[in-house]
Amino acid sequence: MENERKIIRLEKTESTNSVALELGEQGAVAGTVVVAQTQTSGRGRLKRHWLSPPGMGLYFSIILQPDLAPEHLPKVTLAAGLALCKAVEAEYSLAPEIKWPNDLLLDGRKFGGILTETGFLQGMAKGRKPFVVIGAGVNLFTPGGGFQNDLKECATSIADHTDRTISAEPLLMAGVSAIEQEVQRLEKGDFQEILEEWMERDGVKDKVLTWVTPQGKKVTGVSLGPDADGVLRIRDGAGVMHEVLSGDVNLVGKGPE
Ligand code: BTN
Repeated sequence: MENERKIIRLEKTESTNSVALELGEQGAVAGTVVVAQTQTSGRGRLKRHWLSPPGMGLYFSIILQPDLAPEHLPKVTLAAGLALCKAVEAEYSLAPEIKWPNDLLLDGRKFGGILTETGFLQGMAKGRKPFVVIGAGVNLFTPGGGFQNDLKECATSIADHTDRTISAEPLLMAGVSAIEQEVQRLEKGDFQEILEEWMERDGVKDKVLTWVTPQGKKVTGVSLGPDADGVLRIRDGAGVMHEVLSGDVNLVGKGPE
């Protein structure tokens, strides 16, 4: 029930994910949310910085303890990306797309992302169940003067795509409940359905991508979308299939190449 949910509201913090991880280690109940007006060290995937100026975005993290075997935990990230996408669709009648694994795009530019991290309750015995922290960042507004430097060509905000009034609170509530719903579907074993809905929103399917393998080799190929386990497949010019298990993919002409 929404009015019983514990929501920790902070004016300023380093990272809501860091706060949520600490709370999870201390035994915070699943469903606890941490939201901040600004983050001084907001972080994204691959150790990237997440720009979090006050009043310009929604920055929150939710602690969950999904009933899933550890090997299924990476699927939580895809499920959460779909959830946030659905929340934006419902709140603003927009049609965002997703770039694997969970960048949210409007007109090909990123306005939202998810960082999933795992922690363990402090002092528990081996074999203990992990908890996950799902952190979501959404650019609600574009900073005065526009996004700068490496964000200039690739970032956007919801405000750039709608005339509706935008406020963080309704999107927070919609996002939190959508994330919980998608994770519950995952627990019920509905990943294939989640994946189908995810693929309806796949913003890079059939497009040419580049990816740098863990060995440092650059692969250029066509995105075939995720397989049944959510692993992205790319087919290169020689017809060789590559499974993207980590790192990032970039559309040719739209990122570091
Ligand atoms: C990404 O696209 O790389 C993921 C970005 C996730 C940013 C959010 S903002 C709230 C939460 N706290 C963090 O430090 N990161 C996530």
